[in-house]
Amino acid sequence: MNNGVMNWWNNRSDEYYGGIHGQLEKLKKDPTWAFPSVIWEMIRKNFPDLRGRRVLVPSSGDNFAVFGFHLLGAEVTSCDIAERQLTNAKKIADAHGWRIEFIRQDSMELDRIGDGEYDLVYTSNGCHVWIPDLPKMYANFHRVLKPGGRYIMFETHPFIRPFDDSGIEIIIDKAYEDTGPFVSNVKTGEIAEFAWRIMDIYNAMQNAGLKVTHMEEFHPEKGDYDDWFYGSTEEAEADEYKKLDWKQNLWAALPQWIGFSAKKESRKMNELRQAYEQKLSEAIANPPRIHNERGAGRKRVATKEIAARVLELRGQGLSQAKITVIAAEEFNIKIGRTTVGEIIRGNYKLPDE
Ligand SMILES: C[S@@+](CC[C@H](N)C(=O)[O-])C[C@H]1O[C@@H](n2cnc3c(N)ncnc32)[C@H](O)[C@@H]1O
Repeated sequence: MNNGVMNWWNNRSDEYYGGIHGQLEKLKKDPTWAFPSVIWEMIRKNFPDLRGRRVLVPSSGDNFAVFGFHLLGAEVTSCDIAERQLTNAKKIADAHGWRIEFIRQDSMELDRIGDGEYDLVYTSNGCHVWIPDLPKMYANFHRVLKPGGRYIMFETHPFIRPFDDSGIEIIIDKAYEDTGPFVSNVKTGEIAEFAWRIMDIYNAMQNAGLKVTHMEEFHPEKGDYDDWFYGSTEEAEADEYKKLDWKQNLWAALPQWIGFSAKKESRKMNELRQAYEQKLSEAIANPPRIHNERGAGRKRVATKEIAARVLELRGQGLSQAKITVIAAEEFNIKIGRTTVGEIIRGNYKLPDE
């Protein structure tokens, strides 16, 4: 259990939730507003109807996604390491009569969540930066999903992480490869943050059996719940969203977000797929030889079976050329037209004669 991170979020939760209430009205009018449009498209494609679907949201934070899924008809479980975050979210849910399950859980443990229970596990931006052990977290997500269930997520794009984004100018702060931990000593104790790369996220997911089927790298869009370059929607509107244009704001040339959609694959399925892929690449590397009776070391290769078929086809009125093609297809052997002619004329000597 990471007490530093937990305490840090517990201590700032009230302030965090203080800014959320105004946005709830928008969410109630349109619950899909809880998701960037690109991510909502990913969800909708896999779950055209969320009613009755079981959704788990680990590291739920502001619980926007949790409320969104609930309002769209899903049965939602919200997990977070910080009790205070859950208490604040539950207050909102209770005030609206929203039936949502809240469980305090570290995403690297999830021991109070049963196996194979969920159709969808969803995490939103700001989850991965607090997780020192991605394989452990993804192993849990894999475990709690039903067979064929899905993990969908979006995050701050790893390309943003090497930069000092405190100003307009683009300044590199650290190497892309420097993933952390970046330790800070906030009053409550040590907290560590991580700057995972695309490969850290992708490989950990794949190795856990969460097979990535789709990926997106994207920018904030007008009307999305996070205006990114602006402090508020009002500010963005007053500026006519000019900062979304990279020619006016160089930061916009980089993708701000990354999203993944992955399907739970059983370990057995994973092994079978890998074995199959291995066999397939061997077969492609060594294609079966189609024997050709022509050329050096020519042998008589037409068996009794082939000869009988040639005569049968001839009986149907087919030309020698056509018979040659059909014999090649049916027996995977190239019989010369001369041989076909010999068989038809009764001059062909079978190998066993
Ligand atoms: C920035 S929020 C991310 C969720 C949401 N997108 C948001 O912006 O509120 C980060 C949340 O992750 C939680 N968290 C950090 N480490 C965690 C862990 N190991 N397990 C579960 N939750 C964790 C924090 O308590 C916090 O509520």
